[in-house]
Amino acid sequence: MAARGIASGNGNTAVVVGVLLVCAFLHAGVAESAEFIVGDGGGWSVNASSWANAKRFLGRDVLVFNYDPTALDVVKVSASEYEACAAPSGAKVLKSGADRVALALGPSYFICSVPAQCQAGIKMAVVARKQGRIGGAS
Ligand SMILES: *[C@@H]1O[C@H](CO)[C@@H](O)[C@H](O)[C@H]1NC(C)=O
Repeated sequence: MAARGIASGNGNTAVVVGVLLVCAFLHAGVAESAEFIVGDGGGWSVNASSWANAKRFLGRDVLVFNYDPTALDVVKVSASEYEACAAPSGAKVLKSGADRVALALGPSYFICSVPAQCQAGIKMAVVARKQGRIGGAS
């Protein structure tokens, strides 16, 4: 995007500097990560999915799953496991009741592996993008 300004020579230094500043600003935005309490006050529940649909996530954002560990857990699964509500045997099960998960870029899928809970709706899919939160909803 800076190519035209550079190629056309004199008088465009300010444009080039401006472009560089904007790029630096955007880069700062990319580097910044945020923490989200899944479901806000409702925590990890049947409402987590609709909560997630209203958010924009970036790579490296951290999700905090708050829930009663005697009743629920959290397992990160694949898309097909998410659809099937089935955690593979040997999956890493989070069960502290306040689990923190940093998002990788792209889609992530979470379910509760306690029998019947995922089927009841305690599941959540999120997509972490490279950028796009600047000026947008949080
Ligand atoms: C889910 O949301 C509905 C509608 O806002 C609310 O009535 C219900 O109590 C919520 N359930 C949980 C478990 O937070």
